[in-house]
Amino acid sequence: MSTILKLNNITKLYPGVTALDDVSFEIEEGEVHAIMGENGAGKSTLIKTIGGAIKPTGGTVEINGRQFEALTPALSSENGVGVIYQEFNLVPSLSVSENVCLGNKLGNRLYKDKKKMNAETKKVLDELGLNIDPDTMVSSLSTGQQQMVEIAKSMIKNCRILIMDEPTASLSAAEVENLLDMVITLKKKGVTILYISHRLEEIFRISDRISILRDGKYITTRYTKDTDRQELIKLMVGRDIGDEYPKRTNQPEDEVVLDVRNLCGQGDVNISFELHKGEVLGVSGLVGSGRTEMAKMVYGYLKKDSGEIYVHGQKVNIRKPDEAIACGIGLIPEDRKREGALLDYTIAWNIPIMTIRKLSNGLFIDWEKCREVVDKYIKELSIATPNAEQLVRNLSGGNQQKVVVAKTLATNVDIIIMDEPTRGIDVGAKQEIYNLINDLTRQGKSILMISSEMEELIGMADRIMVFYEGEVTGFVDKDHFDSNRIMALASGIREEA
Ligand SMILES: Nc1ncnc2c1ncn2[C@@H]1O[C@H](COP(=O)(O)OP(=O)(O)OP(=O)(O)O)[C@@H](O)[C@H]1O
Ligand SMILES: [Mg+2]
Repeated sequence: MSTILKLNNITKLYPGVTALDDVSFEIEEGEVHAIMGENGAGKSTLIKTIGGAIKPTGGTVEINGRQFEALTPALSSENGVGVIYQEFNLVPSLSVSENVCLGNKLGNRLYKDKKKMNAETKKVLDELGLNIDPDTMVSSLSTGQQQMVEIAKSMIKNCRILIMDEPTASLSAAEVENLLDMVITLKKKGVTILYISHRLEEIFRISDRISILRDGKYITTRYTKDTDRQELIKLMVGRDIGDEYPKRTNQPEDEVVLDVRNLCGQGDVNISFELHKGEVLGVSGLVGSGRTEMAKMVYGYLKKDSGEIYVHGQKVNIRKPDEAIACGIGLIPEDRKREGALLDYTIAWNIPIMTIRKLSNGLFIDWEKCREVVDKYIKELSIATPNAEQLVRNLSGGNQQKVVVAKTLATNVDIIIMDEPTRGIDVGAKQEIYNLINDLTRQGKSILMISSEMEELIGMADRIMVFYEGEVTGFVDKDHFDSNRIMALASGIREEA
């Protein structure tokens, strides 16, 4: 084996933040090399350096023996590096082939030869075993397919080192399988893969070696076959975190706080359920089964067609999120970029934004109180930032998610709907969120927890409600949690009553 990529003493400083601190390690040709680390550890910054999206403050990147002090995206690509960033770089209003050929000689011509572009694109798609029509608009593709187009876009430029930053974070279970298969396919073709993910299962399935970053520093590299979950978590977090799922310390009460009856509307859903005081009701189901639609209807973000909602026994008519919050219902949305955080505002603005009325006397905002709330959540959720004045845009992906969580918690509602609350969040921070869920329920708050991670639902919920095509196919009690049974319900197999 030979070294294809070498990182020499890479440092990247931002005002008040050392994102990378003298990082050096090597990637072997043809391996799947995973990079792991907590939110804000510097993973994305490192790959942006390799991809030429940012200039390091110090250090060099060596590709195939050629040393670079600063790369540009073009230079990096010429040297065989392809990067799929945490946020895609596709143009939704262009076709698949236009996107795939963007930035190569076919796509850059003034008079584009559409036929040739389609043919070339088709060739790459075929090589990758992808059944996507080159003429399709990218906007009409699923997230999983868009990702495949991103891969094709790199491959058409003869990419030899493909870097993926949390590629599975927003994929459905089936799409995740496709992506992991694709990684194996690419590896067989001799492509070297650098793979970032917070999901340990994936890392163990596909990687040959794993490098760990912590607080911007390189910690170590392990052969995947020689390590385990426990050790990796310890290396990432820097300490033993004990059980991943803390013991729940309260029992749900009989009192029903939220009663949803025949809620119909968006996405053909028809849902009924009761949520009890102090309960964590898990919501399982495949992507597209109506979980998010249900949440948004309850929260007044989407219009419902019919059905009733009772809060503490009172019938309510929620038409917008403000009214939901007034009824004591909050939502931590799934899509933090579009619905969650105001990226161009500071943390200090974001966290109290939905409660600002409560923190003012009608005329003046109580800034001191605001600040207290902000500081409390930065501390409680361990948001990694030099201070509260940092723009949310400049936080790492996982820390942005924590700000979104804090925003909802700050409203002090007693019914909290969490839609994929730990997506993109590292193991240590996940545990903090679980501890928080524990605290909240102990205080008598109730939680509707939508999650695609079965383990997390089984670890934290009192009951799990399973969705299939807009309907509830079953409720499973804690004493009877069983992933096969839940999977069966999520595939539409109902049980005899
Ligand atoms: N443009 C920027 N300005 C200031 N600080 C930044 C900027 N970009 C990144 N940072 C900081 O650099 C550190 C590393 O961020 P990075 O995005 O590399 O983390 P990460 O390991 O990818 O985390 P995650 O798992 O959450 O995606 C973080 O503390 C982040 O806030
Ligand atoms: Mg990142």
